[in-house]
Amino acid sequence: MQTDPRHPNLTVLDHPLVRHKVDRLRMSDTPTKTFKELVKELSLLLAYEATRDLPVEDVPISTPLETFTGTQIRGKKTVLVPILRAGLGMVAGAHEIIPAARVGHVGLYRDEETLEPVEYYANVPSDVEERPVLVLDPMLATGGSASAAIDVLKKRGARRIRMANLVAAPEGVTRMGEDHPDVHIFVAALDRGLNGNGYILPGLGDAGDRLFGTR
Ligand code: PRP
Ligand code: URA
Repeated sequence: MQTDPRHPNLTVLDHPLVRHKVDRLRMSDTPTKTFKELVKELSLLLAYEATRDLPVEDVPISTPLETFTGTQIRGKKTVLVPILRAGLGMVAGAHEIIPAARVGHVGLYRDEETLEPVEYYANVPSDVEERPVLVLDPMLATGGSASAAIDVLKKRGARRIRMANLVAAPEGVTRMGEDHPDVHIFVAALDRGLNGNGYILPGLGDAGDRLFGTR
């Protein structure tokens, strides 16, 4: 894991397997099937890191040989919140490592002219304030969508929020630090910046289109 003094709200997964997988995602000739598989694998690894400090409690465990004091996760189950649509691609991987997680949804799309997020759907567990929340979205570009999604979640009571992205731009990380300094971000890669259309460079293109074959 790597921390960056410019972005105290950010953890970059620093691992050869992660770098290898992200760079396969970036390749423009990676087919949809492989793209989806890579998103799943990276999402599992991001969810693993993002839940590293979940609270635990002691619990008596009986093995076939003896009883000892073991560990279990304390408190209510985590809620995974994919930002629709591209965030959906990250649910399967995160669920594989946190199978009991609940899943909420926030629907936003980026207006292609203004780059501003437009909300069209929100549904999270009614007791979300008692649960750790992990927001999922492959791309953190300007940060507009993520910031708006977290506004939606906070309005519904969410307090313990983290976010996992595959690729982030420094602009989006900075925006999140300003709007939601309490939300720590876990990414597989921190890229160079944005182009004039708000796309991440070098990036991987439009994550939703590549995941769902709608290019
Ligand atoms: C993409 C991506 C993020 C957003 C990032 O979604 O999945 O949600 O753009 O950009 P931002 O940081 O500048 O807001 P998009 O709006 O393309 O919608 P989609 O998931 O339906 O493809
Ligand atoms: N959304 C994407 O899907 N890709 C980008 O590079 C930026 C926003």
